[in-house]
Amino acid sequence: MALTDDAHQIIRDHFQGKSRGLAIDATCGNGFDTQFLAELGFKRVLGFDIQEVAISATQERLKQTGLNQVELILASHQVMNKYIDTTVDCVMFNFGYLPSGDKAIVTTAENSVAALAIAASLLSPHGMISLMCYPGHPSGAVETQAIRDWFKTLNNQWIVKTHLAVSPKPTAPILYELRRRVDVK
Ligand SMILES: C[S@@+](CC[C@H](N)C(=O)[O-])C[C@H]1O[C@@H](n2cnc3c(N)ncnc32)[C@H](O)[C@@H]1O
Repeated sequence: MALTDDAHQIIRDHFQGKSRGLAIDATCGNGFDTQFLAELGFKRVLGFDIQEVAISATQERLKQTGLNQVELILASHQVMNKYIDTTVDCVMFNFGYLPSGDKAIVTTAENSVAALAIAASLLSPHGMISLMCYPGHPSGAVETQAIRDWFKTLNNQWIVKTHLAVSPKPTAPILYELRRRVDVK
């Protein structure tokens, strides 16, 4: 199973029996994660991407599903708070570039950490943030390190879990899960 599938399973398990209000796909790309969040029953889903082609691909994907609680926003994820006036239950980040798109358009360490800090500040007590990181390409390595450094600034109210690929190499993708300690049973 790919780590992107693991992210879905972890979120599915986490929200079993929990309320599902607002979810954010911070990097829509081809819309797989946006569709997943909508199908999981979040009442409202916001999807962000800086590329028109990604917003269109996601829109196209959703058209075929009949899901209508999704708003797609052509904007960088570090302005997500401008579109939100409640807490957020789930935020998915799938960093890097659009597969089969322009590989020069990529998430950056600075924007990603800023967006992550905003997402954490908006997170509901039972909320979860998933982060799919790709240290195998140069800017992805810098970004992954910046995210790890940001984790170190968190106090003990937070829990970070790391999920590695089955045969992890230093360059393999890494999935992180971030949530508030208050939710630990
Ligand atoms: C790996 S893809 C996401 C895959 C996607 N979640 C899916 O399910 O298909 C990464 C996406 O992040 C987008 N991106 C890059 N910088 C961004 C930013 N600052 N804000 C929002 N999206 C960004 C890229 O345009 C690209 O579409």
